[in-house]
Amino acid sequence: MKIDRFPRPTFSVDDARRATYSVFGIKGLAAELAGERDRNFLITCEGDQKYVLKVCNPADSDEVIDFQNQLLTHLSSSSNQWQWPQPQHDNNGGLMSHVQNCEDEEVRVRLLTFVDGIFLADYRPHSPHLMRHFGRFLGSVTTSLSDFTHSAMDRELFWDMKNGVGLIQEHIHEINDRERKDLIHHFLGIINNALLPIQNDLRTGVIYNDANDHNILVECGVNGNGEIVGAIDVGDSVHSWLAAEPAVACAYAMLNKPDPLATAREIVGAYHENFPLTEEEISVLFALSCLRSCMTVIIATHQKSLEPENDYLSVSEESAWQLLGKLKETSPEFAHFSFRHTCGLEPSPSTPHLVKWMNHQKNQFSKVVDADLSDDEMVVVDLSIGSLDLTNSVWENMEALTRLIGTPALGRYNEPRMIYTSDQFQTINNNGHEWRTIHLGLDVFLPAGSQVTTPLEGVVQSVQNNDGHLDYGPTVILKHSPADVSTFYTLYGHLSNKVLKSLKNGDTIKAGKKIGEIGNENENGGWPPHLHFQVITDCLNYYGDFPGVARSSEREIWTSISPDPSALLNLNSEGAVAKEILPEEITTSRQSNLSAMLSVSYRKPLKIVRGWKQYLYDHTGRKYLDGVNNVPHIGHSHPRVVDAIQKQAAVLNTNTRYLHENIIQLAGRIADTMPDPLSICFFVNSGSEANDLALRLAQAYTSGKNVITIEGGYHGHLISLIDVSPYKFDGPGGEGLADHVEMVTMPDGYRGKYKYNEPDLGERYADKVKEAVDKIKNKGEKLSAFISESMISSGGIFIPPENYLSTVYETVRGAGGVCIADEVVVGFGRVGSHFWGFEAQSVVPDIVTLGKPMGNGHPIAAVVTTPKIAASFNTGMEYFNTYGGNPVSCAAALAVLDVMQEEKLQENAAKVGKFLLDQLTALQKEHPVIGDVRGSGLFIGMELVKSRDSLEPAPEHANYLVERMKERGILISTDGTRNNVLKIRPPMVFTQSNGESLVNTLKEILHESFFMTGINNSS
Ligand SMILES: Cc1ncc(COP(=O)(O)O)c(C=O)c1O
Repeated sequence: MKIDRFPRPTFSVDDARRATYSVFGIKGLAAELAGERDRNFLITCEGDQKYVLKVCNPADSDEVIDFQNQLLTHLSSSSNQWQWPQPQHDNNGGLMSHVQNCEDEEVRVRLLTFVDGIFLADYRPHSPHLMRHFGRFLGSVTTSLSDFTHSAMDRELFWDMKNGVGLIQEHIHEINDRERKDLIHHFLGIINNALLPIQNDLRTGVIYNDANDHNILVECGVNGNGEIVGAIDVGDSVHSWLAAEPAVACAYAMLNKPDPLATAREIVGAYHENFPLTEEEISVLFALSCLRSCMTVIIATHQKSLEPENDYLSVSEESAWQLLGKLKETSPEFAHFSFRHTCGLEPSPSTPHLVKWMNHQKNQFSKVVDADLSDDEMVVVDLSIGSLDLTNSVWENMEALTRLIGTPALGRYNEPRMIYTSDQFQTINNNGHEWRTIHLGLDVFLPAGSQVTTPLEGVVQSVQNNDGHLDYGPTVILKHSPADVSTFYTLYGHLSNKVLKSLKNGDTIKAGKKIGEIGNENENGGWPPHLHFQVITDCLNYYGDFPGVARSSEREIWTSISPDPSALLNLNSEGAVAKEILPEEITTSRQSNLSAMLSVSYRKPLKIVRGWKQYLYDHTGRKYLDGVNNVPHIGHSHPRVVDAIQKQAAVLNTNTRYLHENIIQLAGRIADTMPDPLSICFFVNSGSEANDLALRLAQAYTSGKNVITIEGGYHGHLISLIDVSPYKFDGPGGEGLADHVEMVTMPDGYRGKYKYNEPDLGERYADKVKEAVDKIKNKGEKLSAFISESMISSGGIFIPPENYLSTVYETVRGAGGVCIADEVVVGFGRVGSHFWGFEAQSVVPDIVTLGKPMGNGHPIAAVVTTPKIAASFNTGMEYFNTYGGNPVSCAAALAVLDVMQEEKLQENAAKVGKFLLDQLTALQKEHPVIGDVRGSGLFIGMELVKSRDSLEPAPEHANYLVERMKERGILISTDGTRNNVLKIRPPMVFTQSNGESLVNTLKEILHESFFMTGINNSS
């Protein structure tokens, strides 16, 4: 098949404007649009009504143009969910009209309605949701067209995939680059292999045939997710293979994707839900997608030479070459299995029968190792992500791992494993990184030198030393062809070097005969000695090696290709296959037994099973950079804290009625960090308890009851604290201001009454406290306390303006009240410049409350006050707190203080915090949605607004960022009374390179299409 020449007709913008008026009676401005065959013009009328004037290509007959008009009308009338351009009648009632161009030539024109939206090519991101929407859209197009026929539908068209192979063969000589030509030849092989045997059996019908990313229109839908609006340009519609429809879509949607197949899977799965594909069609989808990409590059090469000024002709060419380069690395069989899976079929078709056969033959297979694996005493090691046997210091250290596992022992199949979260197993997917964590075989841990024999007769398919670190080492793959079941393979990894000499390809090994021996750690890839035993139903593109671990996103595909091998070891699956409680099951159980008022983060909640340093791991081994959890202050599961807790808990845990040195050491260490006269400590179990006790102390000292608090503040969940927490009493379900509480304005220099650049900002906001004090006086009541965080967190991450707290403290003390500084969030060096937030404000409070970071997650909190205030509490009523100050909690807090000093974490907070603030401030200059950036150390807020003039909050944008950051593997969250402040409050071990990842990812997300919507670009 030859690519025909069809130069576009000559027609100027002026011609277009005139023709639209003279032929259709529509007045408007014309602007030229891109086009391959037709010349297209956007016509914009008054009131912003838009049309597209199409000047038809002379190569297209009237019948073909009628075909297109009827097709568009049919598509629109069969579903109003999607938009298609609608042909407009001319002054004579026709759908196609003849006009003269400026060169007095006659051309044919049509006017279509304009479909608004963003081209899929320009829309970001191509989320799974959008790709599924795309698939559903196309499925419904195929359904709509199933009853459509036209006399022009069978015309010869070079974009028709039925002609694809012929077209490539005809024009491949035009590609000069040798490598690129080879690439096309490679795909021709794949295409012929897949298509030739079944092409005559494929279903046909009229298809749209051009779901390319410059024809598909998208808008921002629910939760900021892109959704398909409709499509344009039916110029390539033709009667062809139905399977070509999703294949074309995949060919374009896969462009520029790190993981193209994942994108294609979403489209195909959703297409299949709307229009079920047959097994034959599924088997050719990959080949057809590749065919379309090959056609794209061949046609673009040809057309460019004819019409070099039309950029549109090569709009996808370079990306298509890149895609082909990438798809060359993809096994066509794996792609086929992927598509089968997404369409609800068993990925590897031979697996169900093989599994049945293996289970049937169980206990008749010869032993693979000389150990009774089914012995009840056999140790099954838990190497899963959340394994309690696998402490953080063990999974990173092979020697420790070897000691932990011991021999004999069994390692499980289909287990997401912590050891595979290291760099060697990292891959790139469409959302960043994904680790190959899922174990596809069974491990038998036995001493090096133990014999390995075959469970059934097999022929050596390969013997190869996969000698990279953490690879298989010497590996044997045997091919088995027993009667009654399709050929399959078994893999034996981590053998000794001897096998490389003792076996060769083609050797037959009878059942029960020796394959080799288990290798030692110097030859087996550096692992504890063991055999990795795996069944393979299809070797895909691999030779001598085969993945033993898989990405969780492809788990079902790989576990079908490599099913559970237990039966071949004469084992029951129960112990040998890992089991998990899935996040969805936990969500359901929470509903049965926990209060609905416990909220969960993220639309799709995370099941986090491990924390280590500044990272959290979900049950699949997905690693998240933690940018928000401030409680694991010195890093998740810090070994010093774990050790301190374990050691003390193993010896003694009691209460303060016995003398113990931990509590006095801790009290002394904390008092040393505080200015005089803050020296008396009370230990409690939570920030709420600390603040409640602080209010009691204040009452005892002042004998007043009235409390002044700041708008947006949160101080705890006890009833006494809800009263002084506007975040709660003024929020959903809150009961408003209590009689004994006065609330003062937030000292907010960004959106408050007095702005950052105004003089005496601190004093002016502090005046509000004077007013509150006067109000209490006027009621004839006594002030007890002013409570506030030294830097405000839940209110929206605010650093009080200069002189604010000092002026407030003076006023409060002048009125007989005491000043409580809530350091539950900002204390312990977080703010970088100082150990306590109040120090940065140059004040000395009367009572300080500590909490969250104090025990790195262990529940310990404290109140620190002056001897005078403490003395007022000595009323005779005993203060007893069962857990407060117990030796274990104190040991945890002491370890935190040690690590803070030894690892210089306050200094780190200052350095990394400054880096983050600088970077985010730079980002603010580029993105109008970032209204304000503020913070100190690793306590940072970024306020999002829809307009920098009106300061209208942008909570949807904040939420979008939080969700997208999570999808990209970074955890942050929102705060503030308007839920529009992004908070960044990571563990103090957060590094500058972590900061770079966070900022770069934010930057990328801020360029996504959602941020083009609803933001006023004023600055
Ligand atoms: C500033 C502040 N104070 C007190 C508390 C209460 O601490 P806890 O949750 O440990 O009771 C919180 C908790 O979020 C807080 O943010």
